Amino acid sequence: MKFLRLIVLLLVLPAYSQQGGMWIPSLLKGMNETEMKNLGMKMSASDIYDVNKSSLKDAVPQFNGGCTSEVISPKGLLLTNHHCGFGEIQSHSTVEHDYLTDGFWAMSLEEELPNPDLEVTFIVKIEDVTAKILDGVAAISSETDKQKKIQENMASLTKSSPKEAWQENRIRTFYEGNQYILFVVESYKDVRLVGAPPSSIGKFGSDTDNWVWPRHTGDFSLFRIYADKNNRPAAYSKDNVPYTPKHFLPVSIKGVEENDFTLVFGYPGRTTEYLPSVAVEQIVNELNPAKIEIRDKALKVADGFMRKDKAIKIQYASKYASIANYWKKWIGETQGLKKSNAIEAKKKFEKDFLEKVNKAGKQAEYGNLFTDFEKNYAEIAPYALSRDYFTEVVLRNTEMLTIGYRLYQLEQVYNLRGEQSFKDRKEATIKGLEETYKDFNASVDEKVFEQLIELYATKVPKQFLPASMKNSDYKKLTDKIYDQSKLTTYKGLKELLSGDTKSVLAKINADKGYQFVKAMADVYQKEVGPKYEEINLRIAALQRTYMKGILELSPKEARIFPDANSTLRVTYGKVKGYSPSDAVTYNHTTYLDGVMEKYIPGDYEFDVPAKLIDLYNKKDYGQYGKNGKMPVCFIGTNHTTGGNSGSPAIDAKGNLIGLNFDRVWEGTMSDIYYDPAICRNIMVDMRYVLFIIDKFAGAKHLINEMKVVGGKK
Ligand code: ARG
Ligand code: ASP
Repeated sequence: MKFLRLIVLLLVLPAYSQQGGMWIPSLLKGMNETEMKNLGMKMSASDIYDVNKSSLKDAVPQFNGGCTSEVISPKGLLLTNHHCGFGEIQSHSTVEHDYLTDGFWAMSLEEELPNPDLEVTFIVKIEDVTAKILDGVAAISSETDKQKKIQENMASLTKSSPKEAWQENRIRTFYEGNQYILFVVESYKDVRLVGAPPSSIGKFGSDTDNWVWPRHTGDFSLFRIYADKNNRPAAYSKDNVPYTPKHFLPVSIKGVEENDFTLVFGYPGRTTEYLPSVAVEQIVNELNPAKIEIRDKALKVADGFMRKDKAIKIQYASKYASIANYWKKWIGETQGLKKSNAIEAKKKFEKDFLEKVNKAGKQAEYGNLFTDFEKNYAEIAPYALSRDYFTEVVLRNTEMLTIGYRLYQLEQVYNLRGEQSFKDRKEATIKGLEETYKDFNASVDEKVFEQLIELYATKVPKQFLPASMKNSDYKKLTDKIYDQSKLTTYKGLKELLSGDTKSVLAKINADKGYQFVKAMADVYQKEVGPKYEEINLRIAALQRTYMKGILELSPKEARIFPDANSTLRVTYGKVKGYSPSDAVTYNHTTYLDGVMEKYIPGDYEFDVPAKLIDLYNKKDYGQYGKNGKMPVCFIGTNHTTGGNSGSPAIDAKGNLIGLNFDRVWEGTMSDIYYDPAICRNIMVDMRYVLFIIDKFAGAKHLINEMKVVGGKK
């Protein structure tokens, strides 16, 4: 009997079930619908994506280009993560009104706070345009000319495709250039802050718990989309009104059980699941360790200052979080790739691939792929490493250098495009840097500079170092530059950039800080950049061919999904715990009890607000608790990545049950190698979100705006 059931199960379950994947919403019908239904979904593919009627996609805009969000009321109420709204919450905060520490709740529409640079973007329509984009490309032999033709085709189709005046056409490439898809989108630009819990809830556990399960973070914030009187996008205006969505998600407080179907809908940023093993080796052994070491140093410096000074803590909060985030991710990713033997698995895949190539008689097209990959990755190694050092040290972690690099680009604009362009760019640069200086502290930056410059000078291949960096006394060099350069204050920068073009150029070139960046940037632009681009173009062409081969030679049930590219995707799976190592198993849900277990009074990561402790002690959970406990987070087998933060986790019927915000430590390598046994996404339970809004913040009016389903009658 048991045996028979097993056979039936084996027959029914596709061989490749539960392997992750991020799918294109307009193509679910043929590809995934059956599998989704087998997993328990009660909706049809057209409930998720449809151009002719409202569907789930109409409730899921991209949030400011980097995160995802969802509309949860007929009045444009928008939910996303606390860490996605962090920049906005920070920008409204001062030492006196510290919304990061205390939280913020608008008790009426009038109290909602506008955010000048924030926008959310809805997808109106998705259309495959591969044939049009590749028209006339096959006949071209040079790779550079091929790419040029593709760019031209993309530009002209973007221009000529029909759309409304307030909409935009965007074409993106899929499967490494084997498919092209057009998106008609519309962006709303008046998006106001409605609510945020204190960081002791929204960022509970901070960097210690980041990328880790079990998790107890209430990582959410609320915004509202405003539109003009015709419900169309408009710049901020007092006269704008709350946006009426085509669709909004009902919120379910019914609760989740292990093995429940879940669907996560959002904008995953970038994955590289089809890299050859040599590329993964380079990441594991060279590139990740280098980037980790740089950030390690920068973070230690900032942390030292932030712990001592409240103003610096606010100034650096957002930058610190974003630098720490990928620092930690690369550590987990490197460990995970090693532990899961990803390189071995890739090598085996490559061997199997070559066998299929031989069987199909396609040696001419695909037979040399891996030797070519090896050659090119060996060649690119020193350039790739130098590029990462330059990006991390100059563009990412030392702000004086980042600012100096902006001036370097400005000088290049003068050299390439003349005085008028220079003047326009100069004004934009001055304006653009105002925000940067608001959160800049020269003492912090000076310490970072000293450490990173020394690292750069010792680790970057000698031929890519400017003379000023060879055999220096880095302490002396740093003192001199931070003492004399005008780049360390906004006032100084404005002085440098004031006056006629000639004198501006003379002034910046006499500045010690600028001279230093310029020397670094010159060597980089001459010796590293072009060669890197040249080899990388070859690698991209190989990757495109490899992808084509994988698509062509894999069995139909192999579920080959396109790498993430910041476009709208559907990923689905089940609520599920996992076993990270021998004898250890993780449950799928955490509870408020776990918050109290982690509680460290006064700690900057694990403090808990008094009000929350009080609610916990009274077990005052309203309609949101279950059996006397308050659920906080849960995990599932949905394949997500950066950009999926703020994505709705949706149940079998289309209700919102969770808010995606992270992945588990053992599974952070899922961008490169997805292992269904240990890769999990982490979501805040919507019951916790509503509990915080209702019981903790007393913002019942927001709950009343939503459509809450699944409660006890
Ligand atoms: N790791 C999550 C993601 O990649 C959350 C990051 C925000 N939290 C933090 N402590 N930095 O974005
Ligand atoms: N925390 C990520 C984000 O901000 C999500 C992830 O990488 O899993 O998009």
